[in-house]
Amino acid sequence: MPNKAHHELNRRSWNAGTKAHNSHKGDQAAFFRAGGSTLFPEERRLLGNIASKTLLHLQCNSGQDSLSIARHLGARVTGVDISDEAIGFARRLSRESSIDAHFVRADIYDFFEGHDERFDVAFSSYGAICWLSDIQAWGRGVAGCLKPGGRFVLVDFHPALLMFDEGWRLNEDYMGGVVCEYDSGVGDYVAMTGVAAGVDSLEPGITDFHNPFPGVEYKWGVAEIVTALIDAGLTLRHLQEYAFSNLFKPFPDMRDIGGLRFAAPAHLPQHIPLMFSLVAALKP
Ligand SMILES: C[S@@+](CC[C@H](N)C(=O)[O-])C[C@H]1O[C@@H](n2cnc3c(N)ncnc32)[C@H](O)[C@@H]1O
Repeated sequence: MPNKAHHELNRRSWNAGTKAHNSHKGDQAAFFRAGGSTLFPEERRLLGNIASKTLLHLQCNSGQDSLSIARHLGARVTGVDISDEAIGFARRLSRESSIDAHFVRADIYDFFEGHDERFDVAFSSYGAICWLSDIQAWGRGVAGCLKPGGRFVLVDFHPALLMFDEGWRLNEDYMGGVVCEYDSGVGDYVAMTGVAAGVDSLEPGITDFHNPFPGVEYKWGVAEIVTALIDAGLTLRHLQEYAFSNLFKPFPDMRDIGGLRFAAPAHLPQHIPLMFSLVAALKP
């Protein structure tokens, strides 16, 4: 069963965190009006040609990737996120950049239950899976949102990454839906990383951010994620691991390898999985 009490804590934590993140990103509407995109080559390649297709963006946050998909890949996008702040921002950004997209504020588990439309493509990315309290129900929900022949595309940080502490010491569980409650809540990873997609240099924005709302994350291994989708009737078409992470620099000594990507420091093995992607499809 999804843990709605945890999701409610996360909604509050993401509301505060999202405000801090966006405070560093400058005039996002101007960026999009000038033709900007926040997409990385990984998701562009996996999404492929989706012009005029309907796309459901699960956990879309403030909609920057949703609007990039709508503008640059030509899909008709619906974004869903639990955070009021994120969806409010996404709707404003859509209006002010004149990029059409539809945004729904909802817990994705409620959306799965209450929404009848079926989509050609579902998409989720970069920091999504760790917020899911029930991975099997998520798999069923994703499958239930797709038209026959529809595809689900996921690019996320590798759960192996979450086993290490800041000094790369093995410190945490890998799998099993282990619950991790953080009093510190959603942090200002934009300020900590010092980069954001489509932003040349960050604005100071909200400084010394301390989130007053705790957050709750879950540890799901790659096998649990894939199995949830297979159990729900999807067929795995692609699975890849990457030894770099886009945008996210969880450890201070990670190497900046350009293109807003970070890799393990030189003294460590260089094939540590930091990100993974998958594509799973429903039978036509
Ligand atoms: C790291 S962000 C994902 C960023 C996203 N890739 C983007 O395009 O910016 C994780 C998002 O998951 C959302 N979230 C967490 N739990 C959720 C839930 N149960 N239902 C819907 N959204 C949720 C948060 O509000 C947050 O916006």
